Order: sequence, then C-alpha cells, then structure tokens
Amino acid sequence: MEAIECIKTRMSIRKFRHDPVSKNILTEIINTAQWSPSYKNSQTWEVVIVSGKKKEELSNLLVRLLEEGKTPEPDIPEALSWPPDIEERINEHMKKRGALLGVDLNSPEIKKKSKAANFRFYGAPHGIFLFHDSVLNEWSIFNAGLFAQSLMLAAHAHGLGAVPQAFLTDYSREVKQFLGIPDSKRLVLGISIGYPDTENAINTYRTTRVETDKILRWVE
Ligand SMILES: Cc1cc2nc3c(=O)[nH]c(=O)nc-3n(C[C@H](O)[C@H](O)[C@H](O)COP(=O)(O)O)c2cc1C
Repeated sequence: MEAIECIKTRMSIRKFRHDPVSKNILTEIINTAQWSPSYKNSQTWEVVIVSGKKKEELSNLLVRLLEEGKTPEPDIPEALSWPPDIEERINEHMKKRGALLGVDLNSPEIKKKSKAANFRFYGAPHGIFLFHDSVLNEWSIFNAGLFAQSLMLAAHAHGLGAVPQAFLTDYSREVKQFLGIPDSKRLVLGISIGYPDTENAINTYRTTRVETDKILRWVE
C-alpha cells in the first residue's frame, strides 16, 4: 500500500473477527515499527503481546476491577481539563460517535460499558502493551507514540485493524503484575489488534480533521 494512502485510510477499529493473527505477521509488524525514529536512537520501547487464554484472564481481571469501582491509576495520568477549543472538538467527536451507536457516550452507564469493551480488547484476538523504563522522560513517550503509529500503519498495510487505548493503562500496576513486568516500567499504551469485523456499524464511523489552515501558520 502506498504510504500516503496508508496514513489517510488508517482508522481506529473497535470490532474484530475472532481468528488470530499469525506470530509471523505480528513479529513482522513489530519489526517494522522498530524502524521508527527515536531520540538519539534510544529505542526505548518494550512490547508485550497477550493472546488466547491469558488475554481472556486479563480482560476478566480488568472488568472485575471496574465492577469493584477501583479508581484508575494509569502510569500516565489522564488529562483532567482541556483548553476550550479542544474540549469542544472532543465533545463533538463523542456526540457524533454516540449518535451512530444510538447512545449517549457521556452517560455513566454507557461510559462503564464502553470501558468494559475496551478491557475486552473490543473482541480482538491480541492485545499489545507498550512499556518503557519509568526513569525515562517525555521524549520516550514521544518515541512510543511514533512506534505506535508505525505499528498501526504496518498493521493496516497487512489488512489488519488496530486501536490505541489509553483505557488499557487504567490499572497499570495490575496489568504489569499480570504480565510479569516489573513496576519500575511505565505502561504507556495498549493496542488491540486483529482482522477488522467490517460488518459492524462501529467500524463505519470515520473521524474528521480540522481544516489545515486552522493548525498551520506560515512564517516567511
Ligand atoms: C493516545 C491515544 C489514546 C487513545 N485511547 C483510546 C481508548 O482508550 N479507547 C478507544 O476506543 N480509543 C482510543 N483512542 C483512539 C482515538 O479515539 C482515535 O484515534 C481518534 O478518535 C481518531 O480516530 P481514528 O483513529 O479513527 O483516526 C486513543 C488514541 C490515542 C492517540
């Protein structure tokens, strides 16, 4: 697939077929993502892929913590407020997605259901977790972002779907404990990956972008 087409047609996939992706393809995708740039070629990313029975057990654990009302403690804190123009953009996105699904995404009941769907990896056969050493600073989070985008583009080029999920970091400590990752690591992001279920309405939602001249300024 041509690079620009790949970037412009990638979208977050939130419903997957059950069939697993071969280890060869997943390894190829991770290897491709390793060619992302990083600060001084530090390559700070570390990756865990969870599948099968272990993925089900992890989902059950996360859903149980949600049901118990445990307060999320992600390694990277959730943003508590946004500048007004960005908040308006987020609200519009939530309204449009909710309208497509016929629900109010801001209602506490739907929010909980939506979190549980995140914790079930939206039905994907694999969950990918990105970590790095927690002594590392913001530039390594930047590295992880580049790695995540390369990974999702490579997945798309292989006919796979993926979605980046901050929610999968809600219970960072428990996820690390479950995966056998030391608490000295920072859990940066979770990504569900698999073959997209193209029949499901949730995957027909296409987000928009602001006009380029709103975010671009020329100085010459
Ligand atoms: C850092 C980050 C965290 C995200 N967290 C979640 C998440 O927890 N759950 C989810 O369903 N989508 C999540 N998303 C996906 C965004 O909602 C999505 O990228 C955005 O709406 C643009 O849509 P697109 O990916 O289809 O282009 C996240 C995206 C990013 C970059």
